[in-house]
Amino acid sequence: MTASIKKFVVLFSICIGLFGCGNGYRQQGKVETTPMGHLKDVFKHDFLVGAAVNEQLIAGKDSLGLTLVIGDYNAISPENVMKWMYIHPEPESFYFGMTDKYIDFGLKNNLYIVGHTLVWHSQLPDYLNEVKDSFLMAQYLENHINTLVTRYEGKLDAWDVVNEALNEDGTLRRSIFSKYLGDNYIGMAFALAAKADPEVKLIYNDYNLWKPLKRKAVLRLVRQLQAKGIKIDGIGLQGHWSLKGPPLEEIEKSIVAFSDLGLKVHITELDITVLPNPWDLEGAEISQNFDGSSIMNPYKDRIPDSIQNALANRYQDVFRLFLKHSDKIDRVTFWGINDQVSWLNDWPIKGRTNYPLLFDRKYKAKIAYDSIIALKKEIASLYLN
Ligand code: G3I
Repeated sequence: MTASIKKFVVLFSICIGLFGCGNGYRQQGKVETTPMGHLKDVFKHDFLVGAAVNEQLIAGKDSLGLTLVIGDYNAISPENVMKWMYIHPEPESFYFGMTDKYIDFGLKNNLYIVGHTLVWHSQLPDYLNEVKDSFLMAQYLENHINTLVTRYEGKLDAWDVVNEALNEDGTLRRSIFSKYLGDNYIGMAFALAAKADPEVKLIYNDYNLWKPLKRKAVLRLVRQLQAKGIKIDGIGLQGHWSLKGPPLEEIEKSIVAFSDLGLKVHITELDITVLPNPWDLEGAEISQNFDGSSIMNPYKDRIPDSIQNALANRYQDVFRLFLKHSDKIDRVTFWGINDQVSWLNDWPIKGRTNYPLLFDRKYKAKIAYDSIIALKKEIASLYLN
């Protein structure tokens, strides 16, 4: 039996074994498709559909979550386990226990595997924040990137090489990397990753890239890298959005602008908060946190139908835009598998109850899920008639 037939048989038996590929809505304990099918199947001719997976799921402690990912998604991102503080906690020691499990889960289920993230100013180990000279910083950077990219060469499909290197006005964010390496650290990171694995896709990932100043800064950054012959394949456009914004036309301008430079667009970290932001915050500026009043946590016990519908409409609006530009978009990844595990329950205020994703706290598909599938069916039927 050839390898590809074997893989098909294995995958088919997993499908039958796990959830029988029946029809109907998801119930606690059972996982069934809605009458309209699974996300990855409905959008298979448009773009990959991914989800960020947390430590619980990677460790095999969330069987419903595993089933949900295998059933609906064809791409995965590691929410935290691949970040420097976890995978490279001391200068000469690495911890690959969780990341190897993550990669194995992706390979076994034939998923597009993303690495997140090689270089970011947050979630760093103490030894890195204590660096005092450029030579040592360059050594740490080279060792980190070489070790991780080499280990997962041929297994991982794309790396978020550098994450969130820009300020809201488009200037370079001050970080331990920029302090000792200037803005060269970005090119160094991409060049090191390309040298360690010439095949893997290399992405610059950031939030609020819909903002004109940040969009211009990314275009400038990409042109600089391209002028130096440094490989960059894609832009990760984080989708930490809300019911009211950002404006679709600004998101669209960025998708088109990045694509015009020959890059693929990855909609990464998609979630839509339904809660009020105390300071009308935009994106995921991680250094901000606030203690808000109860007015900031209005849906503690349940989400009103009106908000559920508003969420479904907003997801339909953004997916209408994604489908319009599916030729430019490689992947749409949701930042979490269901509302229960979303980081937005604790940001910018800890302990809130948010409802930003397509699956609820009982792993049941919400009407937002059905709304984007219905949209695709509606658009597809226009082509058939
Ligand atoms: O590992 C500790 C654990 O030992 C401890 O028991 C637990 C309770 O305090 O905290 C755990 O660390 C948490 C970590 O996630 C792992 O679960 C941190 O407190 C928590 O702050 C951290 O949050 C993550 C955040 O990045 C950190 O900046 C979120 O889960 C994650 O969704 C979020 O993801 C980022 C992307 O990587 C980059 N783009 C923005 C996005 C949102 O900030």
